[in-house]
Amino acid sequence: MVETNAESSPLPSLAVLISGRGSNMMAIADACERGELPAHIALVISNRPDAKGLEHAQDKGLTTDVIDHKAYASRQLFDQALHDRLCKAQPRWIVLAGFMRILTPEFVNQWEGKILNIHPSLLPKHPGLDTHKKAIESGDTEAGASVHIVTPELDAGPVIAQVRVPVLNDDTAETLGKRVLAKEHQLFIDALKICLSRDSAGR
Ligand code: GAR
Repeated sequence: MVETNAESSPLPSLAVLISGRGSNMMAIADACERGELPAHIALVISNRPDAKGLEHAQDKGLTTDVIDHKAYASRQLFDQALHDRLCKAQPRWIVLAGFMRILTPEFVNQWEGKILNIHPSLLPKHPGLDTHKKAIESGDTEAGASVHIVTPELDAGPVIAQVRVPVLNDDTAETLGKRVLAKEHQLFIDALKICLSRDSAGR
């Protein structure tokens, strides 16, 4: 674990889970830093030791940890390790920002109503992987991203916010994915703002 000497904050805390590049995590960290998002990132966890996002988080002075899924014999054991680590951090929100692991129902139920995920499609359309390819192959005229509360069923929880982009005639999964990603960052910040303001209002 790489720990910082960041003082504990009175703001609601976020644990951000990543598996790769971490551009959504960085957008959230920047929004916290400039005060747009009234929260602080207590911890960034990656299930991959080589995730690029870990370096970016450390450069920003965030506390990071790796829970390598390959070190666990089952999904249940990995989720137990994740649960134990999160129990120590006690975040208000667990933010799945490009976290590419399916969580067990047991884990999700233990953190019910506290896990947010960003998914690169207009849910309920195209849950799972290869969302941009699916949107193009289905002849969709619009694609986008959704932020939703995580429930035991994959990509099926209540949607908090969505962003839409047109699908262009010459789009490939890659070009469409880039255009959607460019919109994901603000979407995630806006969705977190909604969740935090609901918290403050006691809803
Ligand atoms: C984002 O496009 C996010 O929507 C997607 O992974 C990417 C992570 O990018 N998440 C999923 O597909 C989850 N099912 P990032 O690491 O640069 O934030």
